Amino acid sequence: MFAKETYIERRKKLSKTVGSGIILLPGNGESPMNYTDNQYHFRQDSCFLYYFGLDHPDLIGYIDIDNDKEVLFGNDLTVDDIVWMGVKPTISERASQVGVAETYPLNKLASFISEAQKKGREIHYLPPYRAETKVFLFELLGIKPSQAKEQSSLKLVKAIVNQRNYKTKEELNEIEKAVNVTVDMHLTAMRMARPGLKEWEIAAAVHKVALASGGNLSFPIIATIHGETLHNHYHGNTIQSGDMFLLDAGAETPMHYGGDLSSTFPVDKTFSNRQKEIYNVALAAHEAAIAMLKPGVTNKDVHLKACLTIAEGMKELGFMKGNMQEAVSKGAHALFFPCGTGHMMGLDIHDMENLGEELVGYDGEPKSTQFGLKSLRLARKLEPGFVLTIEPGVYFIPDLIDMWRAENKFSDFINWDKVEQYKDFGGCRNEEDFVITETGARLLGKPLPKTIEDVEAER
Ligand code: GLY
Ligand code: MN
Repeated sequence: MFAKETYIERRKKLSKTVGSGIILLPGNGESPMNYTDNQYHFRQDSCFLYYFGLDHPDLIGYIDIDNDKEVLFGNDLTVDDIVWMGVKPTISERASQVGVAETYPLNKLASFISEAQKKGREIHYLPPYRAETKVFLFELLGIKPSQAKEQSSLKLVKAIVNQRNYKTKEELNEIEKAVNVTVDMHLTAMRMARPGLKEWEIAAAVHKVALASGGNLSFPIIATIHGETLHNHYHGNTIQSGDMFLLDAGAETPMHYGGDLSSTFPVDKTFSNRQKEIYNVALAAHEAAIAMLKPGVTNKDVHLKACLTIAEGMKELGFMKGNMQEAVSKGAHALFFPCGTGHMMGLDIHDMENLGEELVGYDGEPKSTQFGLKSLRLARKLEPGFVLTIEPGVYFIPDLIDMWRAENKFSDFINWDKVEQYKDFGGCRNEEDFVITETGARLLGKPLPKTIEDVEAER
């Protein structure tokens, strides 16, 4: 946890921006896997963590802006709980760690709320993403679970996005720790991958590095010889000579700030010529995107530069033809790169995605509906303090290739016969994490090998 002043300051700023009413920030509870006492790994809600810092289930943060009052609701342990889980700090001890003076048991919250409702006061809450939170709000506020999102507070969402999007020094420090562990996860995979291993053996070794750092994963591991599937969580394939291995994995620190890196490497000692050619196109796009990072540039332009670099690289290799500016504006390159160049990162690996991509990554501007561009999570003007990933890639997705070819789509830009020969290639991407500075951008964490020579040196 940071010093309590950090949380006090964050809440003060939030209250000032929201202006009036009550802010209700429920933390997460334990989530049963198959029965109550057998639970999924607990993950605190990131907004609760940001303002109240406490990494424990069943706590509710309550801020009465007009009466300048902050309350933490939660139950102290019963003797049965202590027998089961051991002694833990009391709610009031926990509250004082984050500068909150008033605490009550959970069953007192309803009377606070009904009092506020009687007076017609505004109660601000965030769009809930867990069923349990929707039911909690239903019982407390009388809002139907299906309407919980539409009745949530846009004012609160905007205030939080405007605060959490700008990372402070202490947050950057945490993120950098997470990225450094993440680099070690990738080096572990790069050094151990070889034909005959199962993908899950690599996934297990990678997960171990995250756990051994005292934290955990920041999102489920993608460890695959089928890198063309963007979020491939299947780990049951046996690695064969000639495969490329794509790892997209990250650690989060015990304070839950995350890292998110991707690497692609041959499972043999060296890249084949075919692998080198495609890998270098993806790497050129990655470097071109990084070179553009600075305040004032839109991340949409960073993305379009990555798209153009991929299109030009694929044209040089004979996969595309014609005018590549035109191909990108029409979306033809999305055959090879159907997703976005990156996203915000922080306490969530897609930071605040639960609050709405258009507010976090688009500053309220509408998103494109074009295939490829519609998957870009971050398009707004970059500003100092933003933390983001850069992760363009080149993918050969057999179903997409078959579908577009059958439709004779983009035949002015795509050499379908050449593409057909690479349908079994898979996919590759590199991913790194950056903070936007006053004058440019800074790589977070130690560098991960990414040139052909540097990757081969790890094999
Ligand atoms: N690296 C996981 C993601 O960006 O979705
Ligand atoms: Mn990512």
